[in-house]
Amino acid sequence: MRLITTSLAALTLGLGLPLGTVHADDIQKGNNLHQDNCISCHADMVGGDGTDLYTRDNRIVGDYDHLVRQVNNCNAQLGTNWFDDEINAVVAYLNSEYYQFDE
Ligand code: HEC
Repeated sequence: MRLITTSLAALTLGLGLPLGTVHADDIQKGNNLHQDNCISCHADMVGGDGTDLYTRDNRIVGDYDHLVRQVNNCNAQLGTNWFDDEINAVVAYLNSEYYQFDE
């Protein structure tokens, strides 16, 4: 009986789904996509790794919807034809790292 109880406990723990990590995965994915595709132009504009563009005083993006539009615009210029989940991942990354808007 003791053995069964222990096994059940182990099973329950094993099935404990990592809720809350979906968002973190998104952010990591967005970070990678951003790293690979988005930095070169921005770095030419503001120097460094280009991320000063997101934190400069006169940044153009003013709210969450604008961030989504801007990521779509820049993605369109790139011609990568990202899927929505890739756009969303990069938006999630930029918002969590730099903009911190309410969604
Ligand atoms: C072809 C060059 C180019 C590439 C590649 C590019 N961008 Fe941009 N990005 C720009 C330019 C130019 C601006 C500034 C627009 C302005 O000032 O009106 C900008 C601005 C932005 C801003 C707004 C910064 C602010 O002021 O708040 C975001 C966010 C952004 N880009 C995201 C991205 C993402 C995400 C990618 C990768 C999918 C990307 N960009 C790739 C040229 C590029």
